[in-house]
Amino acid sequence: MPTLAFPKETLGGEKRCALLPANVKAYKLLGVDVLIESGLGDGIHLHDEVYKQAGAKVADNRQTLFQSADVILGIHKLPQHELALCRPDTLLISYLDPFNAPDYLEQLCQQRLTSISMEMIPRISRCQKMDALSSQASLAGYVMVAKAVSALQSVLPMMMTPAGTLKPAKVFVIGAGVAGLQAIATAKRLGAAVTAFDTRTVVAEQVQSLGAKFLQIDLGETGQTNQGYAQSLTAEQMQKQQQGQAKCIAESDIVITTAQLFGRKPPLLIDANTIAQMKPGSVIVDMAAENGGNVAGSVAGETVCVSGVTIIGTGNWANEVASDASQMYASNLVNLFSEFCDAATGSLSLDLQDEILGHCVITHQGQIVNQTIQSHFQKEVA
Ligand code: NAI
Repeated sequence: MPTLAFPKETLGGEKRCALLPANVKAYKLLGVDVLIESGLGDGIHLHDEVYKQAGAKVADNRQTLFQSADVILGIHKLPQHELALCRPDTLLISYLDPFNAPDYLEQLCQQRLTSISMEMIPRISRCQKMDALSSQASLAGYVMVAKAVSALQSVLPMMMTPAGTLKPAKVFVIGAGVAGLQAIATAKRLGAAVTAFDTRTVVAEQVQSLGAKFLQIDLGETGQTNQGYAQSLTAEQMQKQQQGQAKCIAESDIVITTAQLFGRKPPLLIDANTIAQMKPGSVIVDMAAENGGNVAGSVAGETVCVSGVTIIGTGNWANEVASDASQMYASNLVNLFSEFCDAATGSLSLDLQDEILGHCVITHQGQIVNQTIQSHFQKEVA
């Protein structure tokens, strides 16, 4: 019977985990054994005993876990020095950050480890239940508003009281993808006046359906990829965007930036001059701070103050609601595994011609088999 192994996350401060006790039964029904590292769920108050009661085994140590595993599932990729502890042909499933990890991929090939990158699950209807980028981004949208609210020295809703009337706070969300739409919905629920902008004008209707305004900036042709991702803007379009949004930013109490470009560095949306025009006490949350940042001066992992404006770049947003984030991520994994599990053997059948696996399997049998990643590195070399 194949063994699915769940090591503890090693990233500093990470509380999420990739398996809840409730998932153990679902895996066991697929004909696999479930093995966890002791303390897997401690960050969300789920201790070994509840996993054992659900039918999981607990490994004595990490090395035993790796040696017993046919599949290793997690949130972040295993530390590179631990890859040598895995048996050849083990399947690793986690975020891999494949565009930015050439050495890591090389070692996966050298150790003959098969890998699935959770970032590369395609954005198609069949995959929604396995789409960890979306499940975690949606929670990130909520968390970013919560963080901004706790840093702002004002309330969000309009309040009419005998002591006077408070105006609703103005919130501007840049990027209306999964995280941005959730941020808009959360800020609206709290009573803010919300405006949003995205280079994909197709989202204007979704923004308006949440009760927010869509800021119109004419950038000419912008377009999106066949996966629904934004295209990079030209330098001229970037400048038009920055000019078009400057007034809205200056008037906002909270600005939340969520703009990403798949497989590339996120665009810089707010420069130091624009920040200097904001009211002291305003708050910016830069979702992309850890990957280069949408905001000049944001610092990965930190909250800083620039010209009286608080800029929050703490990152790993879904980790702030680790219990729900673990539940959603763990379900994404169960759904992925059960989609491709061979009922007779309990192992994953890796048909690389499959629309989903062709997109998300990165290394197999000592090679990078993913075409998107292959051509990304070929371009880098050229
Ligand atoms: P993302 O995280 O790659 O980017 C976030 C948002 O930033 C996007 O809406 C993008 O258009 C926007 N953006 C990029 N550059 C910008 C700029 N300069 N200014 C303002 N906004 C900018 O996107 P996410 O949230 O991962 O979604 C990507 C696409 O995939 C969307 O079209 C989404 O609707 C679609 N999707 C489809 C799913 C499905 O059908 N299963 C599931 C999830 C997402």
